[in-house]
Amino acid sequence: MNSQEASQRDGRLYQKVALITGAAGGIGAATARQFAREGAQVVLADLRLEAATELAEEIVSLGGAATAVRVDVSDYDSVQAAVQFAEQTYGHLDILFNNAGIFGDGQRDVTDLSLDEYHRTVRINQDGVFYGIKAAGAAMKEQGGVIINTASIYAFIADRRQFSYHATKAAVVGMTRAAALDLAKYNIRVVAIAPSMIDTPLIDPWRSDERVWNTVRKAQMRQQFGRPEQVAAVVTFLASDEASFVNGHEFFVDDGAASFKR
Ligand SMILES: NC(=O)c1ccc[n+]([C@@H]2O[C@H](COP(=O)([O-])OP(=O)(O)OC[C@H]3O[C@@H](n4cnc5c(N)ncnc54)[C@H](O)[C@@H]3O)[C@@H](O)[C@H]2O)c1
Repeated sequence: MNSQEASQRDGRLYQKVALITGAAGGIGAATARQFAREGAQVVLADLRLEAATELAEEIVSLGGAATAVRVDVSDYDSVQAAVQFAEQTYGHLDILFNNAGIFGDGQRDVTDLSLDEYHRTVRINQDGVFYGIKAAGAAMKEQGGVIINTASIYAFIADRRQFSYHATKAAVVGMTRAAALDLAKYNIRVVAIAPSMIDTPLIDPWRSDERVWNTVRKAQMRQQFGRPEQVAAVVTFLASDEASFVNGHEFFVDDGAASFKR
């Protein structure tokens, strides 16, 4: 056994099976790496199968256990198939990181937002989270588990021209609380995270305009963007037994962004 494998055996997620949606993206990929380092067997689910597969290969090359599967979270059958794939590959499912999401909206006022743009964001950010809770919740009923949904500080505070994003992330918070209550009898915890601005491809639309970029950066108390690894660390804690009494709430990972007046 090499030292990496030995440390995985001591890991906080040793022998847990985790499914991560949006696993090829910034926050999902960082979380996949941390889960694997903590000993989890990780299924990387994303629309972009090639990128998810490359990440799975990287994790395996470092001594971790990972495999990739294509999922479109806006399609229930696809989400259910990903859950079944995790069960077939590793025997059961303990953790769902329900994380895939898009920004949507194209920076328009609500009156200029097309119905298509709105519904596309709802299908991925809101329906996708529901589908994950429904499919994984059913799979976890026998042995319990943890579902962690990715919301946003935008579930709680408003910014201009991001109507559908706000609507769907607020829905994620509501679904988290309602699902936690329904699933408590099966010893399934359901929690959410609410990040502020994290440096991932999701915020690329602002990268090219220095003025906007600096304004967004200053939304954090220490005026820096978060790193995906900083979010992954909180998700790892929430997924672990260390958080066994944490349920039905959202965790801010925002350097105070949602708690001060600008
Ligand atoms: N980056 C931020 O500032 C920030 C802040 C708050 C919340 N979030 C949330 O964090 C989550 C992850 O975002 P990120 O910043 O890592 O973005 P990202 O764009 O790097 O990753 C998102 C991933 O989701 C995948 N995806 C998109 N649509 C999908 C679909 N229909 N089915 C399956 N996979 C799909 C993409 O391929 C991508 O790999 C999202 O829910 C996002 O809303 C991000």
